[in-house]
Amino acid sequence: MRKPLIAGNWKMNGSKELVESFGRAFTDIDLPSPLEVVIHPPFPYLDAAREAFANSAIELGAQTLNPLHSGARTGEVSGQMLKEFGVAYVLVGHSERRQLYREDDEQVYDRVIAALSVGIKPILCIGETLEERDAGRTEEVVLRQVGYVMARLEPEQRREMTLAYEPVWAIGTGRTATPEQAQQVMAAIRGYQAGFDRELAAGLRLLYGGSMNAANARELLAQQDIDGGLIGGASLKVDDFTAICQSA
Ligand code: G3P
Repeated sequence: MRKPLIAGNWKMNGSKELVESFGRAFTDIDLPSPLEVVIHPPFPYLDAAREAFANSAIELGAQTLNPLHSGARTGEVSGQMLKEFGVAYVLVGHSERRQLYREDDEQVYDRVIAALSVGIKPILCIGETLEERDAGRTEEVVLRQVGYVMARLEPEQRREMTLAYEPVWAIGTGRTATPEQAQQVMAAIRGYQAGFDRELAAGLRLLYGGSMNAANARELLAQQDIDGGLIGGASLKVDDFTAICQSA
């Protein structure tokens, strides 16, 4: 009942050429069904990506947005602007944004609302640091991040949400969470949500992110509560990303 989703977060990487090669590779491709595929390129490539992905299996995603629709916010991009470029999904609360740009739970919530208000689906990223895991605080941290946003949303807004559990210590480190570690946190998230709304929890899409690659994707995606992946490094190579999609 939950449609798998494989999303590629290019972060501050990629090129116009890479956008075009993904467009070519994902046109007339045989993918498992049902499956959604999203690529989140940097802002300057959105227009080229819209064109390149138009007849392909790829939907367009953005990496962040400003909570405001417009105004004096030098360097920022609003949801309304993303919508004009055909963006369907946006990442919110990625640990790099939380750590490097000091985005706290309140700002993450504001961005979720901004996305929902223009009809863009948020992918809410959550995850613990190594220090927090070692202190036995993984579930406390992750459920706080989830609850801060989800508890404030209206039921119909919650249904638009996808959550991506990305342990911070697994991002870009080559150190993937074991399928059991990932499944344990996913089950905790779904269980927490079920405490409020069983039906929503059953349909809530949960992605794993953190050094997911063509070699480990199948085992991670086979876990009961993992409905897809948010891929960084391995989403920059057409062959690797295609292989991950094939294992969904
Ligand atoms: O958002 C994706 C992410 O942070 C994981 O990155 O490079 O570990 O796959 P990576």
